[in-house]
Amino acid sequence: MDPDVTHFPRWTNGLRAAGAVAVLSGGAYATAIVLFGFSPYALDVGYQPVQPVPYSHALHAGELGMDCRYCHTTVDKGAKAGIPPLETCMGCHAAIRSDSEKLKPLREAYDTGQPLRWVRVHDLPDYVYFDHSAHVNRGVGCVSCHGRIDQMEVVYQQEPLSMNWCLDCHREPNKNVRPLDKITAMDFVPDEWKKDATQAEMGDELVKQHNLKPSTDCSTCHR
Ligand code: HEC
Ligand code: HEC
Ligand code: HEC
Ligand code: HEC
Ligand code: HEC
Repeated sequence: MDPDVTHFPRWTNGLRAAGAVAVLSGGAYATAIVLFGFSPYALDVGYQPVQPVPYSHALHAGELGMDCRYCHTTVDKGAKAGIPPLETCMGCHAAIRSDSEKLKPLREAYDTGQPLRWVRVHDLPDYVYFDHSAHVNRGVGCVSCHGRIDQMEVVYQQEPLSMNWCLDCHREPNKNVRPLDKITAMDFVPDEWKKDATQAEMGDELVKQHNLKPSTDCSTCHR
């Protein structure tokens, strides 16, 4: 499949999908703003670039059951989750499937000391401040913001990452919080916390227990 046919051209990477369509259709941008309103919900959802190596989360995080933090090592320590260095992959692939065609770009990069150019999927504008550790250490799981990554052959953006989307959860965190030891569990259900519990019951209790008060002040996210 030719990637140029199914994806926006590279130059639109920084643009919003809706905006790009509006620009291409000529002058309709103002209309788009009126239709979608301030900070629309539908931005970039579904964005799924082709990666230099066909790495599959469905295989590694799903079938093989690897924890997210094995590769995204800084997700509970700082702002960035982090993309693993080639050494992490080669730890297994020096031996496993060491002659695979699909892994050829990985071996070549490793041998020549070049980095692999993974294409970013999620990308907030620079004027927004976001911090992973502030979320995962307070009980917001990966799945709430990224969806079922463990079922994705190729990662795509499931949530809009718009301002309204952030604010919806900052206003009602009880709809999303979970026990801290279930942060990376993709198929967690409140019943595992307490028999027959609902998200509402569990959420209300955890919000109280951890004294969660996500801020909606502008300066929290725009510094
Ligand atoms: C074996 C290593 C490995 C494991 C385990 C792993 N990932 Fe990844 N992850 C990667 C690599 C490499 C990329 C960059 C390539 C890509 O996007 O597929 C990535 C990309 C991502 C992205 C997209 C980053 C962007 O550009 O926006 C998200 C989100 C993500 N991973 C979440 C998870 C979650 C959630 C888990 C656990 C369920 C997980 N990953 C487990 C290696 C891993
Ligand atoms: C803990 C061990 C482990 C790590 C770490 C690991 N993999 Fe894998 N990977 C596997 C196993 C096991 C398979 C399945 C091999 C098979 O099907 O026989 C696999 C399969 C693959 C395949 C498919 C190969 C083929 O020919 O079908 C690709 C591509 C791949 N891995 C990329 C990566 C990348 C990129 C990284 C680093 C981000 C990585 N893997 C990290 C264990 C690992
Ligand atoms: C509250 C929502 C939220 C949660 C929870 C969350 N993420 Fe993210 N993630 C984001 C946003 C937003 C971005 C884009 C950040 C940017 O552009 O600066 C992102 C980007 C990423 C990236 C790529 C860039 C980077 O930060 O290095 C990876 C990988 C990732 N997330 C993995 C994870 C994993 C693994 C978890 C769970 C342990 C997780 N995320 C939990 C919202 C979230
Ligand atoms: C699914 C729920 C959820 C989503 C979505 C979410 N947040 Fe949060 N956010 C929280 C919770 C819970 C906290 C922790 C509040 C606390 O510690 O009292 C938090 C804390 C933060 C903090 C830390 C504030 C501080 O005091 O250091 C920042 C910054 C932040 N969020 C920005 C964002 C941005 C930007 C987005 C959207 C891209 C976002 N959040 C989306 C739930 C969420
Ligand atoms: C919880 C995080 C969060 C808070 C709090 C927040 N914002 Fe935002 N804001 C965002 C995100 C994320 C975006 C980027 C959305 C996007 O990609 O279009 C954004 C975008 C914007 C934009 C650009 C709008 C656009 O449509 O391009 C403006 C202006 C803005 N915010 C103003 C504010 C003001 C004023 C406040 C306080 C009343 C505020 N924000 C509070 C997360 C936040």
